Amino acid sequence: MTTITNKTEYIFPEGFWWGSSASATQTEGAASVDGKGKNIWDHWYEIEPNRFFHDVGPEKTSQFYYKYKEDIKLMKEIGHNSFRMSISWARLIPNGTGEVNTKAVEFYNNVINELIANDIEPFVNLFHFDMPYELQKIGGWTNREVVEAYENYARACFELFGDRVKKWFTHNEPIVPVEGGYLYDFHYPNEVDFRKAVQVAFNTILSSAKAIKAFKEMGQDGKVGIILNLTPSYPRSQHPADLKASVIADAIFNRSFLDPSVKGEFPEELIGILKEEGFMPEYENGDLDIIKNHTVELLGVNYYQPRRVKAKENLPNPEAPFLPERYFDNYVMPGRKMNPHRGWEIYEKGIYDILINLKENYGNIECFISENGMGVEGEEKYRDENGIIQDDYRIEFIQEHLKWVHKAIQEGSNVKGYHLWTFMDNWSWSNAYKNRYGFVSVNLDKDGERTIKKSGQWFKTVSEKNGF
Ligand code: BG6
Repeated sequence: MTTITNKTEYIFPEGFWWGSSASATQTEGAASVDGKGKNIWDHWYEIEPNRFFHDVGPEKTSQFYYKYKEDIKLMKEIGHNSFRMSISWARLIPNGTGEVNTKAVEFYNNVINELIANDIEPFVNLFHFDMPYELQKIGGWTNREVVEAYENYARACFELFGDRVKKWFTHNEPIVPVEGGYLYDFHYPNEVDFRKAVQVAFNTILSSAKAIKAFKEMGQDGKVGIILNLTPSYPRSQHPADLKASVIADAIFNRSFLDPSVKGEFPEELIGILKEEGFMPEYENGDLDIIKNHTVELLGVNYYQPRRVKAKENLPNPEAPFLPERYFDNYVMPGRKMNPHRGWEIYEKGIYDILINLKENYGNIECFISENGMGVEGEEKYRDENGIIQDDYRIEFIQEHLKWVHKAIQEGSNVKGYHLWTFMDNWSWSNAYKNRYGFVSVNLDKDGERTIKKSGQWFKTVSEKNGF
């Protein structure tokens, strides 16, 4: 495995963004109070609670809705100069369209003001997997009307909070609802339908471009971007068949969103497959121009793990539902380093490869690491006699990734910050509280009591020194 040089000090450019990221549904709790509408998570939990780890649902999250002041104080204490949150669409506009909920406006105003009062810049994301249930009933992202509803929601957010929020994101990891909801059964509506998956992907990309268009039309000050989970796709070998497999996996899982978001166009390899298989999405005149002319100004990069692929070894079963794996096999690389809790490979150099790819092939777009992190099960056993979780593994994980980010900067990458996933232990969708990711631990048995972990204390020193 490639290792990084043995420098002793890694100092980052002045003004580097140090912080963490979180999302509304995973942290707010208060899922059914103060007029919030249901989203797909509230609904899915209602009908199938046993699909969630230990049957814990979205109501029982870390209660940021009530504890945001205390939490922002902790962010300040551990050296945050920025924090990424999301707005819950169903809290702001309970049915997805129509009236704005004044209680929600009050809550988000309070949070944003509190962050700013603590010198923490709010980065605000509009959609983090949480479709209002009323809109899912009409097909969610498969339905064009939802694109219009989303544009109105985006406009409402810019109008309400744009005087103070200067960094906006249209979506977080938009490919995940495609995969979870329409291919691999880990998000509601749990369908396996490649045609719908493609339509959802297209409509999401269109919605993002429309929000960017609205942002510009409204003369908003600041930047608008998107957050993508990029998984560098490494072939098993340099054999042409393995190389081809990795190019296809890259086109499907990375470039499907990266190219239209940054370049305004779709990768040819992807269009080729969709045409060949008869899966082209439906779109209207003018859609491609909107996408072409409204690309992002800032890119959030979520990086957890690479994808390793090899050429297909057996012919796919023609009876099986169509999945991207028709074109490649996933490859388990011998000797790979793993996070055993989450089952994800840890490959720190991947973060550098992404940044260099953005520099060389995407106009060196302004970007930042918007998520990177290590989910660990059973962290309580690392709590010492002073009550502090000794998460040295997390410090090492962050440090090793930051070394590669630093190297990319030295080679000219336009990367402006690093946000850990996540600030405090939170509700991880169907994994609920299984794996803990936070700088701050949350004790659900003690009314969500917060304690800063060793990594949080360490992060303060990094932020203060602007490096380590
Ligand atoms: C990212 C998401 O995919 O990874 C987060 O943006 C998520 O919402 C995080 O929680 C960690 O993944 P998981 O599945 O372990 O929670």
